[in-house]
Amino acid sequence: MPERPRVRRGQGPSRDQRPIRCREAAKTSWDRVAGWYDGWVGERGSTYHQAVAIPATLELLDPQPAEEILDLGAGQGVLAPYVVQRGARYTGLDASPRLIAAARRRHGTRGRFLLGDARDLRAVDGIRRTSYDAAVFLLSIQDIDPIEPVLDSVTWALRPTGRVVIVMTHPAFRQPRHSGWGFDESRKLQFRRVDSYLTPMAVPMKSIGGEPPTRSFHRPLSSYVDALANAGFVVDAMREIADLPPDRRPGKQSRAASRADAEIPMFLALRALRR
Ligand SMILES: C[S@@+](CC[C@H](N)C(=O)[O-])C[C@H]1O[C@@H](n2cnc3c(N)ncnc32)[C@H](O)[C@@H]1O
Repeated sequence: MPERPRVRRGQGPSRDQRPIRCREAAKTSWDRVAGWYDGWVGERGSTYHQAVAIPATLELLDPQPAEEILDLGAGQGVLAPYVVQRGARYTGLDASPRLIAAARRRHGTRGRFLLGDARDLRAVDGIRRTSYDAAVFLLSIQDIDPIEPVLDSVTWALRPTGRVVIVMTHPAFRQPRHSGWGFDESRKLQFRRVDSYLTPMAVPMKSIGGEPPTRSFHRPLSSYVDALANAGFVVDAMREIADLPPDRRPGKQSRAASRADAEIPMFLALRALRR
C-alpha cells in the first residue's frame, strides 16, 4: 500500500495529493493510449521532444527564476524538469487522468499536476486568476478543440504581462492525412504535397504499435493568430523548424531528402504577448 499523506484535523489533503478521479476532465483520445505514450516519451522526452520541440519551447518561453509556468495539455509532464531546471515553478494540467497519474509518478516532486479541462480553467481547483507568467502548449494545442475558450481561460489565468508559447506540427505543411512527401523524377526533387489546408477538421491519427487512434484538430495558421488576437494577444516571435536534424535520424538520407528537409518546416513555434 502506498503511504497516505498525513492530514491535520480539519484540513483535507492538499489538492495535489487528492486521489485522481477516474473520469476524464474533457473528452481526450489520449487517456486510452496513456501507458504507451508515457513509455514513448519517457523521463526526458522522445527524440522529437529532445531535438526539436523542447528546445523551441525553451527558446521562446525563456523561463526565469521564480516565474509561474502553466503547461496546458501537459501529458505525462515531460516539460516539468526543463522548466524547473531554470528555477521557474511548474504547474501541468491535462484532461487525462492516466497521464496526470503518470506525470505525478515521474515528476511529482518537480511541480504540481492537475486534472482539468484547458477550456475551462476557472473550474479547476488549484488554478487562480492572474497567477501565471506564461502558458505553454507543447504539442498539445492541436489535440484540443475548440481553441477560443482555451485562450479565453488562459487570459483569465495569466498576469497582465503574461505570454503564451505554442509548439505544434506545422499546420501548413504537415496536415495529417492531407499532406506527404513526393518525388519529382524529372527534376530529381523531393517535394511536399498539400491537398487540403484551409478547411478546419478533426483527423483521426494513425495508431502506433496497435494502439487506438488519437484525434487531432487541423486548423489553418490564421485560426491560431486570429484566436490569439481576439483573446488579447499579439504574436511577437515565430519559428519554423525542420524535421529531426540529420544526426538524429536513422539511416542515410538522399541529397533530395536533405534538401527538402532543409527547406520545408515540419514544426511551428510561436510566442504571443498580452497587448
Ligand atoms: C500529444 S499530447 C502532448 C502531451 C505533452 N505536452 C507532451 O508533449 O508530451 C496532447 C495532450 O493534450 C491533452 N488534452 C486534450 N484535450 C485537452 C483538454 N481539453 N484539456 C486539457 N488537456 C487536453 C491530452 O490529454 C494529451 O495529453
